[in-house]
Amino acid sequence: MKPADRVATLRAELAHHNHRYYTLDAPEISDAAYDALMRELVKLEAAHPELVTPDSPTQRVGGAVLEKFEKVTHRQQMLSLGNVFDDAEFTEFDDRIRKAMNVEQVAYLCEPKMDGLAIELIYEKGRFVGGSTRGDGVIGEDVTENLKTIRNLPLELSGKQIPALLEVRGEVFIRKADFKRMNDELVKRGEEAFVNPRNSAAGSLRQLDSRNTAARPLSLYVYEVGVVEGREFASHVEKLDALASWGLPVNPRRYEVKGFEGVKGAWSSLLAERHALPYEIDGLVVKVDSTDLRARLGQVSKSPRWAVAWKFPPEELETQVERILVQVGRTGAITPLAELKPVFVGGVTVSRATLHNEDELRRKDVREGDWVFVRRAGDVIPEIVKVITSKRTGAEKEFVFPSQCPVCAAPVRKAEDGAIARCTNRACPAQLAGRLRHFATRTAMDIDGLGEKLCEAMVEKGLVSSVDGLYALDLETLTGLERMGEKSAQNLLDAIEKSKATTLRRFIYALGIPDVGEATAKALAEHFREVPKLMGASLEELQLVKDIGPEMASSIRGFFDEGENRAVVEGLLKAGVKPAPPEIVEAGAFSGKTVVITGTLAGMGRDEAKEAIERRGGKVSGSVSKKTDLLVAGEEAGSKLTKAKELGVKVLTEAEFVALLK
Ligand code: IVH
Repeated sequence: MKPADRVATLRAELAHHNHRYYTLDAPEISDAAYDALMRELVKLEAAHPELVTPDSPTQRVGGAVLEKFEKVTHRQQMLSLGNVFDDAEFTEFDDRIRKAMNVEQVAYLCEPKMDGLAIELIYEKGRFVGGSTRGDGVIGEDVTENLKTIRNLPLELSGKQIPALLEVRGEVFIRKADFKRMNDELVKRGEEAFVNPRNSAAGSLRQLDSRNTAARPLSLYVYEVGVVEGREFASHVEKLDALASWGLPVNPRRYEVKGFEGVKGAWSSLLAERHALPYEIDGLVVKVDSTDLRARLGQVSKSPRWAVAWKFPPEELETQVERILVQVGRTGAITPLAELKPVFVGGVTVSRATLHNEDELRRKDVREGDWVFVRRAGDVIPEIVKVITSKRTGAEKEFVFPSQCPVCAAPVRKAEDGAIARCTNRACPAQLAGRLRHFATRTAMDIDGLGEKLCEAMVEKGLVSSVDGLYALDLETLTGLERMGEKSAQNLLDAIEKSKATTLRRFIYALGIPDVGEATAKALAEHFREVPKLMGASLEELQLVKDIGPEMASSIRGFFDEGENRAVVEGLLKAGVKPAPPEIVEAGAFSGKTVVITGTLAGMGRDEAKEAIERRGGKVSGSVSKKTDLLVAGEEAGSKLTKAKELGVKVLTEAEFVALLK
């Protein structure tokens, strides 16, 4: 192939993969494969400088070093948004528009509120000629050189009816995965990590040496326009579609809705998906769709009357560490924990945060009395992101990691390679209570009513000394516990009895073998099919199982080599626990298929649907991609359904799904 042809092919491929990654959020190749294409192009262009064009993706490496950023006055003011926080406040916003415009119901277009940095891009005759930060809305800073390094910013527009002048507004941000990778690398090099993607996006865009910006994984979405010459848009939807048709990255996630109910639905569904999204958002932007209505509504000082941000509960907060203590888990792992001055955020009070392990505690250098940023993302345990060192007074106290277990006083030891310190006493009450709780958990033996508090109480009173002891409990013993009536005691006994009829995968998972999660337990159950075979398996045999490497194999072998563990397993079987081997997979509608379940199914739970699919040879995955074969869509299916339709994935209603199971 001629170099010119190869260069053209490479550019087309890179553009295609950029689009898959940034706009569709469905990459087809790995980062490494992408980098290889890019390197090949760089090499070819170096050998044939005549083939270099200003819009080649290789031109995004940066190079210009500035003294300072020039100020630019925006031709049209860059507005910001008013905020609303609840139903009543949004209703007020909606009512005001309906009254002023004398309409029954308003058509809105809702978009995720990207948590990044607002910028403006200027295209003249389709060519990118400059861009700036929002600044105070009137005057911003010229960051053209830095913007050019953003991989999904088109340097040249394509498509039909491109305006002579096009000012586009949008957001520069960093995707969660890119942020994590970047921070990991910074830490590895001994540099300081960023607190969050927004701060790092802002910092990256304000680098005087654009090579620094080029090294940061910035992304772009556009969502509004400024001055446009030679094209008008009747609605926001029409505008977004036009921008996308010219190759500008427009967030595919958007909600065309009507009135309060419609907006509330969009808000709830976006909030539910917040943590699954590849980027950070802090709310829903609600915009009047009609250009005509917008013009009639106008603006108040800095924000339009036709748009508002309906914020989500914040996830980051500032508070003070009152005390640092440690917790002992079921494997003896000792986890440092910070007790915080309680802060009320997004409907919950945060009063503790995990510090993961000793190394993490040292790296973050958290001390008692420190002011910290705490991050609370959904259901996960809040985490300390960073100490606000500027607030230190000198009165803070460093935490001394214990060399003895705080519960049983046994020595604490670290494995040679590991960061995790462990209590060395298997009989430690904290470990035992943890093992009981894990054993009873819903995805293990599923013993209803056996929660954390009860496990602790049983250990404290000496009712059980290992998990098989649960099956020897009786009514009299249980009612001896504080706050345990006869009825709840009987219910618990019934639940324990019921748990005897279980499956091998649940049983293996319930044993709490270090490193063996649900997926590994399933693989072990399918491979060995009987408890004695698993217990007797050699290291080599274990490694024949799907996804089991030498480390995991030795962890499993080590577990069964302990006499105590073998005694527990035998005790369980003797007590009448009957772990059923997995059913032989029926070749059926789902064999070899990757299925995603979304929305609410009326007739069965998610877990049940998942098991039904797996029993028929299918695999259930949590997100829709081009590898998905089927989407089962229940009631109120949201963006996964939209995405499946976009990708042409076959969609089943609940009724169709149930029919296939028969
Ligand atoms: S529209 C006149 N759309 O929110 C409306 N803004 O507080 C101008 N933002 O400065 C903005 N996602 O940085 C709009 N989909 C979105 C947005 C968005 C994030 C930011 C933007 C703006 C700020 C307003």
